[in-house]
Amino acid sequence: TAEPAPRADLVLIGPMGSGKTRLGKRVAKLIGRPFADTDKIVVAEHGPIADIFDAHGEPHFRALERDAVAGAITAGGVVSLGGGAVLDEQTRALLGTERVVLLWTTPEAVEARIANGKRPLVRGGVDDWIRIAESRRPIYEALARHLIDTSSRPIDHLAAELADWW
Ligand code: S3P
Repeated sequence: TAEPAPRADLVLIGPMGSGKTRLGKRVAKLIGRPFADTDKIVVAEHGPIADIFDAHGEPHFRALERDAVAGAITAGGVVSLGGGAVLDEQTRALLGTERVVLLWTTPEAVEARIANGKRPLVRGGVDDWIRIAESRRPIYEALARHLIDTSSRPIDHLAAELADWW
């Protein structure tokens, strides 16, 4: 029996600062499909992520994020997920039949990107990032059908590679 068809065109997962939004936008343009970012959906509906974490805690954020992921995947196009969305079991279940791409990067490449104060889980800097990225790596790898190291090549090359794979 055939697998159900994916709903989104591509779903990008991976740790904070791995380039999901930047590459997602670029590849969406290249393949002529809409782009959605689940962090952006949550912020538009509920305000800044750091405020949600501080006021209501991470589990509440994950529930809001789960709704954003479900909506974005149903709408189709290229979808970039927040780095921790895959921690939620129901969110993972949504990804089972999708074309999921894991973006990875190095601590060196990520250090400047995560310094903007918008990500509550890496307030301690790159050491936090390393710990979180490594602890989630098995989850990411189990879901992904394709892997891209965003620290290795210019974004245009990466977008072209992804468009080819798609
Ligand atoms: C998080 C990643 C962030 C954002 C929130 C929590 C995480 O998204 O959803 O700060 O747990 O990894 P990005 O991956 O877009 O930075």
